[in-house]
Amino acid sequence: MKKSTRRALGAASFLFLAATFLLSAAFAAEAPTNVTNIFRPLSIPAQAIREVSFLVLAICAGIFLVVGVLLAYTVVRFRQRPGDDGREPPQIYGSNQLEFAWTVIPIVTVFVLFLATARTIYDVQGAAPPAGALNVTVVGHQWWWEIRYPELGIVTANELHVPVSESGQRRPTFLRLESVDVAHSFWVPQLAGKTDLIPNKENTMWIEPVQTGTYIGNCAEYCGLQHAHMLLRVIVHTPEEFAKWVAEQKQSSADDPQARAGRDLFFSTSCINCHTIRGTQATGTFGPDLTHLMSRETLGAGTVPNTAEKLRAWVRDPQTIKEGCNMPNMQLTDNELNQIVAYLVTLK
Ligand code: CUA
Repeated sequence: MKKSTRRALGAASFLFLAATFLLSAAFAAEAPTNVTNIFRPLSIPAQAIREVSFLVLAICAGIFLVVGVLLAYTVVRFRQRPGDDGREPPQIYGSNQLEFAWTVIPIVTVFVLFLATARTIYDVQGAAPPAGALNVTVVGHQWWWEIRYPELGIVTANELHVPVSESGQRRPTFLRLESVDVAHSFWVPQLAGKTDLIPNKENTMWIEPVQTGTYIGNCAEYCGLQHAHMLLRVIVHTPEEFAKWVAEQKQSSADDPQARAGRDLFFSTSCINCHTIRGTQATGTFGPDLTHLMSRETLGAGTVPNTAEKLRAWVRDPQTIKEGCNMPNMQLTDNELNQIVAYLVTLK
């Protein structure tokens, strides 16, 4: 096989693979859980972004195709042949039609791209919250997400619970984004674009999921050692389920008599300087609110599943699970550890 033929085949198979990948990514019909596919948005702003990016992609693909075909034709048609006399072909200057065409066509193309993009930016960034919108404040920490519902009096961590928008009943969630330490970035690929959380600056964004399920996101701005362990879960409920979740979260913390020893021990340690358990003397705000700790799926912002066993390992020495995290090893004895974990698992 000739070298040029091999090269052409290689290029063709690469293009075919790339196209297959893009198409399968675009049309894969996966449920939202554990999908972080930007080609399958299930939220109004993310869908608007996909539409404009497909338009841009299509226009650019058209330009690529025209230029590529003309280039390939020229290279083959006017290649060097045996018996060429080696003279330069005639040089032609000053074709008004040609110059007009290659000035006007790019201007029109750029103008169309500009208008379509500007309209989408305006629609997404300028959207006003409709009646019935939910307001949530997300605060970035190294390396977890504090999630506050100011109107509902709920504070949780790493899991944003929101209602779904059904036809006729819009329930978008408007987010205020803040950071207490460094810059983070809130990104749930199926729900919206990325928005940074910056210290001393308040950013806003919104999501409007149209399908229930669990959506996975993560911090998209390098923010230190455990940047990769800063996962987000957005749990989208039906309105009834959401109301139930709100009612559960509003309840004050459990006070199980069986776990009294652990509870007393917890309140005698410095745990209470960093964590809040609503309705108790634990009012720290440096670490996640533990009022309903066991209602959450993971520990350490998605690092490990939230089971009693993992919780014990976490309290014993968080550094073995999430190196560099701000929770210290409390140097508890095995007995103290058992008591504290026995208390924590009652916080449902
Ligand atoms: Cu927070 Cu990266």
